[in-house]
Amino acid sequence: LTDTFTLNNGVKIPVIGFGTWQTPDGDVAYQSVLDALKAGYRHIDTAAAYGNEASVGRAIKDSGIPREELFVTSKLWNDSHSFEAAKIALDKSLQLLGLDYLDLYLIHWPNPLINRRNWDKANAETWRYMEDANTDGKIRAIGISNFQIEHVEALLKTATIAPMVNQLFVNPSDLEKDIVAFNNEHNILTEAYSPLGTGSLLEVPQINDIATKYNKSAAQVLVRWSLQHGFLPLPKSTHAERIEQNADVFDFALTDEEMTALDQLEGVAGTHQDASQADF
Ligand code: A2P
Repeated sequence: LTDTFTLNNGVKIPVIGFGTWQTPDGDVAYQSVLDALKAGYRHIDTAAAYGNEASVGRAIKDSGIPREELFVTSKLWNDSHSFEAAKIALDKSLQLLGLDYLDLYLIHWPNPLINRRNWDKANAETWRYMEDANTDGKIRAIGISNFQIEHVEALLKTATIAPMVNQLFVNPSDLEKDIVAFNNEHNILTEAYSPLGTGSLLEVPQINDIATKYNKSAAQVLVRWSLQHGFLPLPKSTHAERIEQNADVFDFALTDEEMTALDQLEGVAGTHQDASQADF
């Protein structure tokens, strides 16, 4: 859990992050983040849109872990796609989290709520603010989430700092091969949210067969699959024993054959709607 990837700006990021999407604000978010920190996670992933930043921040503070040992990510919501709005959004996230800097800040989706047709201009302006905040040290690394190739290409036209991360819905049922290859070519780390397919992959027989062989759980096989592809998985749970289990993945490795077999499960959980194209 203290292993790190190095981002393209030299910042080190712990290889497994604790996901908090769909974790309700209040006691549940507070307790699960505390449990994660107790279990050894040092990387917490939240977002303005998750509505739980205040509880996440409270858990971070109460854990007593020195700030510099933690890696905290948040994301800018779709109502804040401009230079000015991005500044307000970042300040609000920092205030709710009780932090004076973020380790990573992402544009949550490429689609602004307002003026959607001009998404490229909106993202470029938002990015300009994020670059400034990165240069000022208010955010140690900057990135994007749910961006497909066309969205990243548009951003790179005006960016002076290339994104360090693209966080995507990636798991054996959703390989996202094209954008993952694009990220790799551009030295952008792929973070995998919902590495367990929001839980939908945990009963898949092929995954459980592999798990049985290693005396591990399906969830642990899925986290390994992400890591061995070079992704940074962000498993989410609100149960202490699962939180621990999802990070206990460093005592086994999947074979090449097993990785290939898992890749062949594409689509097994049904079609995942590409919400980057959807209307919010
Ligand atoms: P819960 O939060 O009740 O523990 P993903 O990370 O792909 O979004 O998946 C999260 C879902 O998977 C949640 O429903 C979570 O339930 C469940 N989950 C997470 N870890 C485990 C685990 N080790 N075993 C079983 N279910 C898990």
